[in-house]
Amino acid sequence: MSELVTQLEELHTGALAALAQTQTTDETRAWHGDYLGRKGKLTTLLTGLGQLPREERPAVGKRANEIKLALEQALEERQAATAHDEMTAALSAEGIDVTLPGRRPLTGRYHPTTTAGREIVGIFQRMGFYVYDAPEVETDEMNFGLLNFAPGHPAREMQDTFFTTNPDVILRTHTSPGQIRAMREYAPEPIRVVLPGKCWRNEDVTARAEMMFYQVEGLAVGHNITFSDLKGVLLKFFNEMYGEGRKIRFRKSYFPFTEPSVEVDVDCVLCGGQGCRMCKYTGWLEIMGAGMVHPVVLQNGGYDPAVFSGWAFGMGIERQAILKRGIDDIRYFYDNDVRFLERVA
Ligand code: PHE
Repeated sequence: MSELVTQLEELHTGALAALAQTQTTDETRAWHGDYLGRKGKLTTLLTGLGQLPREERPAVGKRANEIKLALEQALEERQAATAHDEMTAALSAEGIDVTLPGRRPLTGRYHPTTTAGREIVGIFQRMGFYVYDAPEVETDEMNFGLLNFAPGHPAREMQDTFFTTNPDVILRTHTSPGQIRAMREYAPEPIRVVLPGKCWRNEDVTARAEMMFYQVEGLAVGHNITFSDLKGVLLKFFNEMYGEGRKIRFRKSYFPFTEPSVEVDVDCVLCGGQGCRMCKYTGWLEIMGAGMVHPVVLQNGGYDPAVFSGWAFGMGIERQAILKRGIDDIRYFYDNDVRFLERVA
């Protein structure tokens, strides 16, 4: 027997032993390179085949081929086994422990402003008011002019305005311009509408004031709409919103678009009028502005003030959420701090 055959047999045994040691698919790949690859041990050994005497070559060549096939076969089996082991290990490592307690999925919920706004609007809807949607970006004319603010009137300064690049187009400072839009759409039919929505004022942000906030406007126009209707509707509203037995009071005030104008207070919902921090020890909470629609505004809305009368009110929505939920700072509302939203929602 030639030296080469001995070497082949040794290589065969050695290769099988080495293959048995491999644990991972990476190792079997490396093994393939070591023995069967282009520069592997078997390939290198077979280059010696050419130097053999001619008559020995067929037998040695045949044996070499058998060994090569046997090694390829053994590799295939080993690869299948290591792949299976790796899969099993990975599956048990990533396995789900079904005995662990579950994690509650985060669910969305309404923002406190949304809840309070819907509650307010709902109360008026049940009294027969329709919801009227008016734009947030307004003309100076709608926001001020048609509401009877004279140009340069100091009342404009009560509502510091955000302007667009076009000074005639502004972010509305209150929901009152919606009064004009609703009247113009329905005049000369009588109307009862509420107008909820966003407003902006260029103010210093404090615990009580944000630059962006929500209001609900109310408006009733008809042939025989009186100041006592206003008082009755508002008393009904406060009893629905804050519980039966509420007291309200009107204090004289000024708005260019109402005459007479009032501030509407409710007896403190926290202390019931005894006096506390919330009501600044007055027993009363200031909730909204209101009044009889000014004849000029009725006219601008398309109603003849000799025939029609009306009243309007406007209140901040956040303030109602604050009172109902005991929130002490309006800045929480739009900070988007999830801890606040989860606690109050
Ligand atoms: N628009 C007024 C404000 O924002 C509130 C108001 C509305 C007053 C309607 C009277 C009538 O302060």
